[in-house]
Parts: sequence; structure tokens; C-alpha cells
Amino acid sequence: PQKDLVKVTFLLRDGQRQEVKAKVGDNLLDIIVENSVDIDGFGACEGTLACSTCHLIFKQEDYDKIPDKPTDEELDMLDLAFGLTETSRLGCQVIVTKDMDGLEISVPKGVSDARR
Ligand code: FES
Repeated sequence: PQKDLVKVTFLLRDGQRQEVKAKVGDNLLDIIVENSVDIDGFGACEGTLACSTCHLIFKQEDYDKIPDKPTDEELDMLDLAFGLTETSRLGCQVIVTKDMDGLEISVPKGVSDARR
């Protein structure tokens, strides 16, 4: 089972780094919840594409490697996210793959909940 785990590092708002083992096939919201990564307000809609609080920022090369391209629904929701970048995704829509071993993902400095 160990082979189904990859190492993912989250760069948190306060500058801390948190390294977790991520299960291949889970989405990044699941990973954050399972590993109790403490990100205030993250994942408020529990992955139903209704909030944009699960906004994460990738390095360009990592962004390019994500196999699933964002859907129109995700892009619409991202437009409402705080601090949108060219390499932003919604964590609940990104599925972990084996290629993501060593991935470093930044948590945006702020959060806005599209439902408010
Ligand atoms: Fe709400 Fe991802 S958790 S859009």
C-alpha cells in the first residue's frame, strides 16, 4: 500500500511548511482533511464546487502536470477566489496522481467564501 502514497508539502499562510502523505486517487481537499492540515475556512462546501475556499496555488510545472483540466464550473468558482493566479486550482477538484510525489502547493494568503 505504501506505493499508493506520495509526499505533498503545503506552504501555509504563516510561512510554515507541512508535509503529508497523500493517497493516490484522493482529492486534495480529502488529503487536507485526513491529515488535519490546519487552514482556516478551507473546504467550506465539502467539495461541492460552491465555495472556492479550497483554492490552492501550484508551481507552473506542477500545474501543467495535473491530468484533469479545470471544468467551466471550476473556472467560474475560481474567478471568485481570493488572490486568483494563472496556476490556481480548487483543491477539491484535483485528484492526486503518482506523478505528484514531491509536489509543493501554496495556500493563498486569504480566503473568500463564494456563498457569502
Ligand atoms: Fe468548496 Fe472546493 S471545497 S469549492
